[in-house]
Amino acid sequence: MPRPEPIKAVRGVRDIMPADRPLWRRAERSAAAVAERFGYEEIVTPIIEPAELIERAGEDSDAFAKELYRFVDRGDRAIALRPEATAGVVRAYFEHNLNQGPQPSRLYLIGPMFRYDRPQKGRYRQFFQLDVEAIGSAGPALDAEVIEIARDWLSTLGLGDLRIELNSIGDHRCRPAYLEELKAYYRPLAENLSAESQRRIEQNPLRLLDSKAEQDQPFKARAPRITDHLCDECSAHWSAVRRLLDAAAIEYVLNPHLVRGLDYYTRTVFEIFPAGAAGQQDALAGGGRYDGLAEAEGWPPTPAVGFASGLDRVTDLMAAGDSSPVAVVVLPEGELDVAASELARICRTAAAVAVDYETRSLESKMRSASKRGARWVVIVNEEEASRRVARLRDMTQREQTEVRWEELPTRLA
Ligand code: HAM
Repeated sequence: MPRPEPIKAVRGVRDIMPADRPLWRRAERSAAAVAERFGYEEIVTPIIEPAELIERAGEDSDAFAKELYRFVDRGDRAIALRPEATAGVVRAYFEHNLNQGPQPSRLYLIGPMFRYDRPQKGRYRQFFQLDVEAIGSAGPALDAEVIEIARDWLSTLGLGDLRIELNSIGDHRCRPAYLEELKAYYRPLAENLSAESQRRIEQNPLRLLDSKAEQDQPFKARAPRITDHLCDECSAHWSAVRRLLDAAAIEYVLNPHLVRGLDYYTRTVFEIFPAGAAGQQDALAGGGRYDGLAEAEGWPPTPAVGFASGLDRVTDLMAAGDSSPVAVVVLPEGELDVAASELARICRTAAAVAVDYETRSLESKMRSASKRGARWVVIVNEEEASRRVARLRDMTQREQTEVRWEELPTRLA
């Protein structure tokens, strides 16, 4: 009998192999650690949701409908594989009465999302997100807080060189008038625009601002800016968010064309890119305030803010960079196995540590520690071991100081 064709994975999904799992685990663990340090608790919601829940959250966003994995189950119910976590987290918040507890509820989730998009590098049909949501508060401090979480997490992973783009898109009070102004600006220009943008003038004018089509670009620059048309409340919120970010020394650039793909946003929106990259496709994270989503889902109006970050993209960059899971390498000079392992044990109370026990020159050990991307090197020879001191070398600053063994954990923390 002829052997049947072997069956390969579904298009646009991927296997995360054992060789890559340590990187992913590191990203996931530090996501949990950073979120928890800010008082966020983990929530796990189902991968399947009623299709209507997702559809209500993305009412007029065309991408949403086209990309949704939607099917009818054996009980004739319309089900969606979640394309993002926010709609489900908000549903769970109300369904389990978190709205009756202390506000805001600070929640995070890590898990797979599904979008039927055209697969390419960094864009998959099943991908993983860290999702962070603060539900039940309108305060601008929370907008700044979730941006700080994203920044801290990416920095911890060695991806601190970021471009944070920020905008405000107003709310139900000021946006309608602005949209009329935007339509009035674009209508006479219609025939010069891409077909997609022509369609959007009446249907979804805000999205004209993030058109990627070459021929639309010159018109974007002169388009009216929503930040010039904010109502007093949105305007006060907008300056408060920026003030808070300034005070936290978080750098950002204002991007008046940033509107985001999902329709539920109000006020603050942001996207985070690796510095140097441009375009939607490279965003490491995106989010914003969504004060209207709860109501769109049929719950009492409830303000909220959050972001999500794609772990596939983050781990890709971590792999490309030279960040290392080993923060410290202990380099004994000579036959010092016992001393070196004691030294490593002390350092391990503060950081991930490896010992280079090989018998080769100090220079060659230094080269290999630098190749692994170690942040610190701790060098010790016999004389130093007898005094219980070591040379601590900062591999980025290229500075070296003598430190007592007992002081190492505080220096490395
Ligand atoms: P989003 O911008 O659609 O926002 O997705 C957030 C991040 O998920 C993106 O910046 C990107 O890193 C990653 N991502 C999106 N699509 C793909 C894909 N096809 N393949 C790989 N990675 C992808 C949201 O999902 C909102 N729920 C964020 C949010 C939370 N807003 C408020 N709270």
